[in-house]
Order: sequence, then structure tokens, then C-alpha cells
Amino acid sequence: GRVGVLLGGRSGEREISLMSGNGVLEALRSKGVDAHAFDPGLRCPTELVKEKFDRVFISLHGRYGEDGTIQGLLDLLNLPYTGSGVLASALSIDKIATKQIWLSNGLSTPEFEELTVDSDWNAVVKKLGLPLIVKPAHEGSSLGLTKVKSVDELPAAYELAAGLDKKVIAETYIVGDELTCPLVGQGNTAEVLPVIKIIPPQANYDFHHKYFSNETQYLCPTGLAPEVNECVQALALAAYRTLGCRTWGRADVMLDQKTGKPYLLEMNTSPGMTSHSLVPMAAKAAGVSYADLVLWLLNQTMQ
Ligand code: DAL
Ligand code: MG
Repeated sequence: GRVGVLLGGRSGEREISLMSGNGVLEALRSKGVDAHAFDPGLRCPTELVKEKFDRVFISLHGRYGEDGTIQGLLDLLNLPYTGSGVLASALSIDKIATKQIWLSNGLSTPEFEELTVDSDWNAVVKKLGLPLIVKPAHEGSSLGLTKVKSVDELPAAYELAAGLDKKVIAETYIVGDELTCPLVGQGNTAEVLPVIKIIPPQANYDFHHKYFSNETQYLCPTGLAPEVNECVQALALAAYRTLGCRTWGRADVMLDQKTGKPYLLEMNTSPGMTSHSLVPMAAKAAGVSYADLVLWLLNQTMQ
């Protein structure tokens, strides 16, 4: 059948989505799939009806792509799609809602607070310690993110994040290894892929170092003790299941260097598929090529 690859979109991660989507498109075509790009940033998403797709691969990131809105439209159109449904997408895009779900299920995540214009900066620092992270609640790829090292830096960090989002979160910065853990499947049959350890130069894995730098090092296998890897994978799997995710996702995790305890940062329900992205890297370590991964993900919509 005819397959649509949804890419571009209207979020701050539009450029990343174009890279992901073009990679996916090329991979599907290399496998003989009749795949066509559809950019919900340039075209009204309701035009999907005219395209007569049989199913779609969602390569959108961030708002209006990874947040349940396009998923709701596709449900209404009865058009099968890759990735999580409305609820899991909407929960996962909201870093505060996500953490509340995790905490209520006993899963560890750094302490946090929602910031508003009325926040008492000193009280925030007292609660969360320094350094702390300030970021928009619904953005990805580190957009609008600041690592705050003193209380004086907090108002500007808040302004930056608030310029991108109505909801802003501050959270304790966990000092230690930065890890990520891809997940596939759903419910009781969900599985974890190998964990990746990310070593950015100057400990700053920002937008540039995520996509445009070759200085960031990725270790897969991580080189961590097997029991630590297993603990991270178990946490990531529980994080994925409690949110009710399906097809695939990627949990970002920090490993506290003092205690060895892993903390969940967030769940990405439409992970990047660029040449620098992490899910394809982990799949490769598990012996699965980029094109085979993409085809497998597409086939999940047939179930
Ligand atoms: N938000 C980006 C696309 C990622 O998590 O890969
Ligand atoms: Mg993200």
C-alpha cells in the first residue's frame, strides 16, 4: 500500500524532523515500499485525507507531531501510524506530567518544580540545589535549556524557556553519566535495546552537539558494569510501560556518580532518526540496520 512519511511540522525541532523523515523515506524506498513525504508544516494536516495513504510513519518531533495532536487526527481518519497513541504521546511530551506519573509508580526522576513569573528563585535553589536545569516542559533537543549555576542566572534561564513554552520546569542536575535507552514494542511484550552512553565535549550535550558535531562520543556497549546496565534497562522499560507507550520510544537517563542510582529525565515517543541519532545506533549494536529498523517500525502499524 501507499505509505506516508510525516515530517517537518511546526515545532522548534522542524529541521531535525526533516533530517529524520528524509532518512526514513529513503530507507523505506530502499526496501521497495511506496513511500511519500507529507510535511504537516507546509500543508494542512487535514489534506492527509486526499493522499489516500494506507498507513503513516510519524517522523515528527515536538509539538503537533509527538504530542498526541496528530495522533488524534490519524485516529479520527482511521489511518494506522507508528508510535504511541494520543494519551501516551500527550503525557510524554509534558515533562512535568511524565514525572508525576513516574513518581506515582515509584520510578526515580530528579526533583523538580514548575517555574512561573511568581517563583521565588531562592526557594527554588534551596529545594533543587545547584547546578539545576531549566527547560520548556514541551520542547526537545535541548531547545531553551539552561544549566543554571547560580541563583542570579535563574531569571534569564526562565525567560528563555518561557519564550518557547507556557510551561517551564526546573529540575535538579544529576552529576554523572548521561545515558539513553531505546525501547520497542508495547505492553508486556515491550523490549529494551542496548543502552548508549553519551560523552559530549565539555559535558554539554546541547542542540549543536546532538546533531552537528562529531566531537560527541557515543559508547554502545556503555562499558558500565552489567548490573548497572540491567538496572538502567529495567527502569527505562518500567518508564515506557507506565506511560503506555507503543511501537518505540527512548528514555533519557542520568546515572548519579555518587550513588550509582539512575534517574529518568524524559521519554521521547518519536525519537530522532538522523545520522547522529541514538535509536539507530543502538539498533546497529543489536545487529539491526537502519533500513531494517524502519521497516520493522512500519510493520508495527499492521498489528
Ligand atoms: N527530540 C529528539 C528528536 C530526540 O529525542 O531524538
Ligand atoms: Mg527529548
